[in-house]
Amino acid sequence: MNVLRTLEDLNLFVSKIKQTGKTIGFVPTMGFLHSGHISLIHLSRKKTEVTIASIYVNPSQFNDSNDFEKYPKNEKNDLALLEQNSCDAVFIPTRLEIESLKKVSVDLGDLDNVMEGRFRPGHFKGVVEVVYRLFSVVKPDKAFFGEKDFQQLLVIQKMVSDTKLPIDILGAPVVRESNGLAMSSRNSRLSFEAREKAGFIFEILNSFGQVKRSVLENRLQGYGFELEYLETHCFGNQNRLFIAGVYDGVRLIDNIKIK
Ligand code: PAJ
Repeated sequence: MNVLRTLEDLNLFVSKIKQTGKTIGFVPTMGFLHSGHISLIHLSRKKTEVTIASIYVNPSQFNDSNDFEKYPKNEKNDLALLEQNSCDAVFIPTRLEIESLKKVSVDLGDLDNVMEGRFRPGHFKGVVEVVYRLFSVVKPDKAFFGEKDFQQLLVIQKMVSDTKLPIDILGAPVVRESNGLAMSSRNSRLSFEAREKAGFIFEILNSFGQVKRSVLENRLQGYGFELEYLETHCFGNQNRLFIAGVYDGVRLIDNIKIK
């Protein structure tokens, strides 16, 4: 696997691939990789000829500086996982190089006013900035995003459509731990006990519609889950149920498809 730490290395790698006419699949991440990220690598390998991942903890998308500083890191393990899963290259840029790239700002409309947009002001602006910058240098044919961050997937689709970038944005299903907890790098900040118990979030999502909302809210409260939102939204022909809140001091999000 090619480990590309500078724009110069990346540009050289990308231009070589482009010369061969092969398609590029891109999986942007913030590292501390788990099976959710790896599912995107597998999907990219299935849909394109060369897969490039990136690892960059983007400060501009953290509305809470404490969350940014505490964001878990393990580059050695990330490189081993990517290598084992036949990722072709990984781009690990410095902040200086990322910030040297042109950024873009798009009007996200309602997407920026609900759920993550409402509870994390400025978050999607930072996501759009960094993903646009990464797209502009990786120049992928397709890029892969998890439905775990469903609203982010929609934001990226809107950014690509507004800026007319010739990139297909593909989503992949949420990968879960055996108890149903959606995999997330932040799960490592939960205590062992909390992580074991946290399957209640998925259970409660799945009982939506069968029991009164107030019952679900009470159950969440009983577990010590500080609810930020529990909302259904319809996007295209898909109805989904979204949840966010703080559990054991860690902010968690999840969503499922509903009828
Ligand atoms: P990160 O949280 O590292 O996630 C990288 C990608 O992995 C995102 O597309 C995310 O939706 C996906 N992912 C995370 N957990 C998943 C799970 N349990 N199942 C399926 N997919 C999962 O999202 C970001 O980084 C950043 O915002 C980024 C797009 C890299 C921009 O900085």
